[in-house]
Amino acid sequence: MSKPDQSIPVLAIDGPSGTGKGTIAGRVAGHLGWHMLDSGALYRAFAHVAVENDISPDDASGLQGLIRTIDIAFIQTDAGLKISADGTDVTDCVRSEAGGKRASIFAKIPLVRKGLLERQRRMRVAPGLVADGRDMGTVVFPDAFLKIFLDASASIRAQRRYNQLQEKGVSGTLRALEKEIAERDAQDRNRSASPLIPASDAIVLDTSEKGIVEVFQEVVSLIEDRK
Ligand code: C5P
Repeated sequence: MSKPDQSIPVLAIDGPSGTGKGTIAGRVAGHLGWHMLDSGALYRAFAHVAVENDISPDDASGLQGLIRTIDIAFIQTDAGLKISADGTDVTDCVRSEAGGKRASIFAKIPLVRKGLLERQRRMRVAPGLVADGRDMGTVVFPDAFLKIFLDASASIRAQRRYNQLQEKGVSGTLRALEKEIAERDAQDRNRSASPLIPASDAIVLDTSEKGIVEVFQEVVSLIEDRK
């Protein structure tokens, strides 16, 4: 397998969940005509298959085996990005709140992060890549030409997530979501392997008081400035 071409530009967009990261990354990728890496979906799919196969977070050899064999594919459809693991469509189960929580548990294991690193770097394909995650700017693509860290207050992120779930007809309370988001944030920020922190050269944008269109325009103008 040839090494990813480092001359291919990468835009790294990191931050906690509920900041609009995925939506912004998707729109910017569409605007630029670039590929997109949803690295959270990769961790979600990996954790889902591990649980389905009874591989626990402390089973190092089981995890190593799964890293070697798991086939995760992203398929762009009219209805959005579909995630397939070993040939099965796992989109709905990995996108749930439980799927995020499960991903966060497996994502703190160094051998899992190391095992998924090359897969992420292989997504660096011309004409460019918009990479969305927690450690895109710090670990996976430290040479990204622009690193953006989107943030927002925890209560606003929970409210946004609540609204999304309501629209989808999924039940749940705002209070339960606030608790889950706080727990996942703490787990992602305090782990020793690739914790969620802005890269030293990242531009931090607080989206608490901003709509998607405004954030999108800010990101596009930052890209123009770098060109
Ligand atoms: O972004 P998303 O909410 O889909 O990510 C799910 C979980 O996967 C995160 O809470 C985090 O624990 C993990 N993750 C990660 N590194 C990434 C992307 C996601 O650790 N680059």
